[in-house]
Amino acid sequence: MTAVKNIPPERLPDLLRRMPKAELHIHIEGSLEPELIFALAKRNDVVIPYSSVEELRKAYAFTNLQSFLDIYYAGASVLIKEQDFYDMAQAYFKKAAADNVIHAELFFDPQTHTARGVGMETVINGLHRACVDAKTLGINASLIMCFLRHLSEEEAFETLEQALPYRDKIIGIGLDSGEVGNPPEKFARVFARCRELGFHLVAHAGEEGPPTYVWTALDVLKVERIDHGVQSVKDPALMQRLARDRIALTVCPLSNLKLCVFPDLASHNLRQFLDAGIAATVNSDDPAYFGGYMNDNFTQTFAATGLNGQHAWQLASNSFEASFTDAASKRRYLDALTAVFASFENN
Ligand code: HPA
Ligand code: ZN
Repeated sequence: MTAVKNIPPERLPDLLRRMPKAELHIHIEGSLEPELIFALAKRNDVVIPYSSVEELRKAYAFTNLQSFLDIYYAGASVLIKEQDFYDMAQAYFKKAAADNVIHAELFFDPQTHTARGVGMETVINGLHRACVDAKTLGINASLIMCFLRHLSEEEAFETLEQALPYRDKIIGIGLDSGEVGNPPEKFARVFARCRELGFHLVAHAGEEGPPTYVWTALDVLKVERIDHGVQSVKDPALMQRLARDRIALTVCPLSNLKLCVFPDLASHNLRQFLDAGIAATVNSDDPAYFGGYMNDNFTQTFAATGLNGQHAWQLASNSFEASFTDAASKRRYLDALTAVFASFENN
């Protein structure tokens, strides 16, 4: 591990903002800001049950994951045309670039759209075009297609079939939506097929669900990263497994706060994962709904939990190590990280 010289605490927020980072857990539909929801509703003649941006924002008071998902799926109903998907992703990339995100892997939920009669090609082509154009903002971007776990495995197979003509535009497969009662093993066969097809695999597990869901995501689905995973601290053997196999966790502190997984940010267990040698990362999940993009997640979590410059280095370098890119890109990312840290250590 690279040793980080003392960073004065007053300079830490600036370092957190300026350090290059990868975002590995962002649902692109969760980046739809209320203003864009209203603009797209108007553009597409879609009626939404809120009279203003303020009224919609007021509804963002969640008690658990499901209370959020209900409003999140309603918000996505304004996405109809390829340009809508492009505009949504481009708005995210602009925010991400301002936060010095240099690599982003975007989750998208095709079933939320195909169920409303929007074509798979509309969704993927719009998002992919935005990923290509993100290069001009200094971001290497790619797409991870998620299956909705409250739906059946058969529906996941149908979704995979519809996406196969666009497989070169997708790097991985994920699993999201309501966790409890929908364990990873429900999707064993479709993940096995995705593995055969050569996709990277990830799954949400241990957000609200028990550590057993993290075990089966690893051992049955054979995922390479766990999205969230914060419930893993309840199982010491699982913590050892995550550390031993360098399984990255894509942790989302402000999401956990807003969905009442922790009572406050000071109680968040991110530090326990880092202390256990687990490759935790910081991510925004659904930034338009949870009150912050990447740098908000970093600065607020560090302020609340007292993490230091060494932790900052670890989190950023973990994000590069865990990303689905080639070794040369990872080296370039680490060099960029080293340069920014050097500028803080020497001045
Ligand atoms: N968990 C599960 N499904 C989701 C989430 C999440 O945090 N965000 C969007 N879909
Ligand atoms: Zn998520």
